[in-house]
Amino acid sequence: MLGGLHFLVLAGQAGWDDPLAEHQDFLREFVATQGVQTNEVQRSWVLVPLLLRVAQRTGAETFDLVELGPSAGLNLVWDRYRYRYEAGEWGPEDALLHFEGEERRPVPAALLEPAPRVRGRVGIDLAPIDVTTEEGARLLRSFVWAGQDERLERLERAIEALRADPPELVRGDFVELLPELLDAQPADGLTVVFQTATLGYVGDEGRTRVRKALDEAGRERPLAFISTGKPRAEKDCWGLRLVYWPEGEREFAGHADFHGSWLQWEL
Ligand SMILES: C[S@@+](CC[C@H](N)C(=O)[O-])C[C@H]1O[C@@H](n2cnc3c(N)ncnc32)[C@H](O)[C@@H]1O
Repeated sequence: MLGGLHFLVLAGQAGWDDPLAEHQDFLREFVATQGVQTNEVQRSWVLVPLLLRVAQRTGAETFDLVELGPSAGLNLVWDRYRYRYEAGEWGPEDALLHFEGEERRPVPAALLEPAPRVRGRVGIDLAPIDVTTEEGARLLRSFVWAGQDERLERLERAIEALRADPPELVRGDFVELLPELLDAQPADGLTVVFQTATLGYVGDEGRTRVRKALDEAGRERPLAFISTGKPRAEKDCWGLRLVYWPEGEREFAGHADFHGSWLQWEL
């Protein structure tokens, strides 16, 4: 409901002090039809070492990216932002958006050397948000708590970076659509599938089907998977996992905060 009110406030159609009853028709409809939808772009700061690790280990110079549950796709354009780590910086110097965070165990300098080129970007989401439209951008802004100005500013810059060349967002269930999407990936480059904060929504059966789709595709083409999931040693955070095919070898890369504010690199 607060997201709905924020949506109106952002368009100058309501004030925070308005009695909610004044907007009851809109809010009732909004709450009934609009799920909460967020896209945390600070997670790119955690994703980058994982993506560079994939480049380092496979030697791939070209990535075709597939994101499961990208929301608006702001993390699909991770290579347009600049990142600071203790060992150095990565990304275009003139980027609109710069990230940093707390490194509890730093990433090694050699990890920041690869510069893979992203050739394809596609995401599958049940409810993708098209931030190339003003309404889509406003919807995403409305689900950031009002007053969190730094997050709103970051979101604004990410939206601008995405609009320069928007990724393809497919509407649908990734459990259903992943096999077909992987089939359509070019076989002459590395396909990198990644997910942050989405596999938890699909249940055991869905996760098994995703893994099966990846295993099958990995037999046909170069493929890697990056996933945030259960932690190993720490609590209340993510464990960072990588899988590489054709063998399906696994790596545990470390732990990170759910929203990307800290990273503990363990490889
Ligand atoms: C918490 S958001 C995370 C968005 C983004 N990955 C991020 O880290 O900011 C979860 C996203 O997963 C999507 N989602 C959940 N289950 C899905 C499914 N079965 N198929 C496609 N998208 C799904 C939701 O629509 C939502 O956009």
